Amino acid sequence: MSAELSLPSLAGVPIARSPDDLRTWTATQRASGRRISFVPTMGALHAGHMALVDHARERAEAVVVSVFVNPLQFGPREDLDAYPRTLPADAELCRAHGVGLIFAPTAAAMYPGGFETHVEPGALAERWCGASRPGHFRGVATVVAKLLNLVMADVAVFGEKDWQQLQVIARMSRDLNHPTEIVGVPTLREPDGLALSSRNVFLTSEERRGARSIPDALREAQDKASAGECDAARLIAAIVGRVSDAGGRVDFVGIVDPETLVSCSSIDGPAQVLIAAYFGSTRLIDNARLTSAQSRSVGV
Ligand code: PAF
Repeated sequence: MSAELSLPSLAGVPIARSPDDLRTWTATQRASGRRISFVPTMGALHAGHMALVDHARERAEAVVVSVFVNPLQFGPREDLDAYPRTLPADAELCRAHGVGLIFAPTAAAMYPGGFETHVEPGALAERWCGASRPGHFRGVATVVAKLLNLVMADVAVFGEKDWQQLQVIARMSRDLNHPTEIVGVPTLREPDGLALSSRNVFLTSEERRGARSIPDALREAQDKASAGECDAARLIAAIVGRVSDAGGRVDFVGIVDPETLVSCSSIDGPAQVLIAAYFGSTRLIDNARLTSAQSRSVGV
């Protein structure tokens, strides 16, 4: 009997609950000559995650999805307990999208007694979400480093919605010489532009109506930048105004270098606008690329 067949399954998708089971399954895949791609998630899967899975499937024959609500990346007053957990529905989606294995470990399997080693990201993780959520990226970097070591995938796929997270992970993976290629996939959006997120389910209908001001404000900033507005402070003030007028409580808006995430005062090359805002108690994040009229004309 193959190692794959000896695993339990949910909705027809094999599930590994322990690092050993995961490693046995990935070893079998590699021995059969299959490349492995990996999509790390915290579950509550939606179409945005499935776009990552579809991309992962194009890049390798065997796709592993991890479903693990990582306690290390939640602060003491954050929504760890309330975070949606929907494993049976997640497994159905995984089946429909051709996932080969779900890795759904317990917290004790990931962080057994005596666990005390963490990955400490650098300056990239200190600003923006890192300033609002102290310790968050240390938790993300630690779990992603462990997951990358366990899966040893050829490719790992992350959403660009979490732009800062993607930069922190790409940096960590380069710094720690992970052999896995880190790939970002563009954000999937609702018809009105709101970025898909597992946290959108927490929005009341009034908050949901207000939340569309986030993509609206980002699009407006993109239009203004393309039309020649290059003053970052003015663009930021307009975004803050629009989201606040719609009932949002802005945590931050930044216009930054896309890779270093250092603030820019003027848009004279590629820049990324980052936003985090609360609607009710739900914290939403989003981002967009700004391209100045000047850089477009010189082909940046
Ligand atoms: O983006 C997420 O869902 C999480 O931060 C990740 C990358 C799965 C680590 O827990």
